[in-house]
Amino acid sequence: MRSDTAAIVLAAGKGTRFRSEVAKVLHRAAGRSLLGHVLEAVRPLELAQTVVVVGHQAEDVEAEIARIGLPGATTVLQAEQRGTGHAVQQAVPALGPDVRRVLILPGDTPMLPPAVLEQLLAADSAGGAMLTAVMDDPAGYGRVVRSAAGAVQRVVEHRDASPEELAIAEINAGMYALDRAGLEAALGRLGDDNAQGEIYLTDIVELLGAQGAPVAAVDADPVAIGGVNDRAQLAEAAAVLRSAHLDHLMREVGVSVTDPAATYVDVDVEVARDAVLLPGTILETGTRVGPGAVIGPHSHLIACTVGQGATVHSTRAIEATIGAHATVGPYTHLRVGTHLGADTKVGAFAETKNAHVGDGSKIPHLAYVGDATIGTGVNIACGVITVNYDGSTKSHTTVEDGAFVGCDTMLVAPVTIGEGAYTAAGSTITDDVPAGALGIARSRQTTKEGWAERRRG
Ligand code: UD1
Ligand code: CA
Repeated sequence: MRSDTAAIVLAAGKGTRFRSEVAKVLHRAAGRSLLGHVLEAVRPLELAQTVVVVGHQAEDVEAEIARIGLPGATTVLQAEQRGTGHAVQQAVPALGPDVRRVLILPGDTPMLPPAVLEQLLAADSAGGAMLTAVMDDPAGYGRVVRSAAGAVQRVVEHRDASPEELAIAEINAGMYALDRAGLEAALGRLGDDNAQGEIYLTDIVELLGAQGAPVAAVDADPVAIGGVNDRAQLAEAAAVLRSAHLDHLMREVGVSVTDPAATYVDVDVEVARDAVLLPGTILETGTRVGPGAVIGPHSHLIACTVGQGATVHSTRAIEATIGAHATVGPYTHLRVGTHLGADTKVGAFAETKNAHVGDGSKIPHLAYVGDATIGTGVNIACGVITVNYDGSTKSHTTVEDGAFVGCDTMLVAPVTIGEGAYTAAGSTITDDVPAGALGIARSRQTTKEGWAERRRG
């Protein structure tokens, strides 16, 4: 643990350029909020303290920080957003007495890998270090002004820059590792005499130089440090994050991805070796796919667990568990609380919800199984419906091991079909069927010989 270093993360801004009712840092890219990405980059540094400056929609941002659960994370409120320097001024009093170095990060840079922060912390200069990058299109960023000898002199914001300064391709990433004492001294001298009338944090670079503690520049990959200021940049960042995660899955884990450009996998999704992701697959946060499973084409899984060797074709599933070697789809909807055992089959136009389906059981087509416990080796034939809702309460259906529920059976819950029992096709079952019995609940057929002939005549 690094007890001498703390992080300050700036997350109070509204993000005007997002044109949103939701605070910018809460917008999500590849399954995680922008702030979440930054805090996850900080996590492996094992800092004793991370102070997040909140302001705009502070309560929602605080809830997100609690959800992320970074050890040592606290918040300070910047009630009025008067600029990045002002934000840091609010945070510094919250730093513990042992902190001698401060890592300052914006809350809107989701592509930042922890290794870049390690590089920044490793840089050695009296005042500290800042990350810079050379950009093809530096528009919008602060530019790094260097002396003839090449030393960093100051940062000038895009809106305050002269035409010559606008031509500078080296930009300020807005990430710094600064000596605490120098930072505190410089913060006291910040003004707001600039195009936006804000207290710019960037002015500390020049102030620290004047204090005899120059700031060194650490050159970084321009993509890694990119900030997200509008929704077009959000989409670009999400694509970069997904692509990096798919690359990791393909090269380091051994997952086949037929077409990465048509495969959407959130950054925390785990996929095991020899799994195959076919085009149109969307795997959202919290999903885990076991070895050798085949997902897609066109499957959308949200917070699901898929067992070894299962196949999940053209399926939508949310908070469902799919057992090893199960076959799901095509056109299957697995809703919250579905647990499919090993070697199960759920096929076309079947919907399940809050249902435990035992090993080897089958729901091959056209069925609704909700609020149900299905044993092992059960056959739920075509057209079966668990009638679980009477308009006010939900009731449970139990089908015990080895039972055979015939086509078009209505199981009016609460009801139990006993072990090895059968229901006749077309039955509306309202009473329990004991083990080994046949439940039949339909009117007998009457056949009128010659009826058609008489009618026509
Ligand atoms: C900032 C830098 C710029 C740099 C760029 C890198 C300044 C003045 N400019 O510009 O040099 O190139 O980042 O991405 O620092 N925030 C607060 N309180 C405030 C204002 C902002 O917490 O009062 C937070 C925002 O929520 C955001 C971060 O600080 O997470 C950066 O603010 P933003 O407005 O995006 O700064 P940029 O214009 O991108
Ligand atoms: Ca920004």
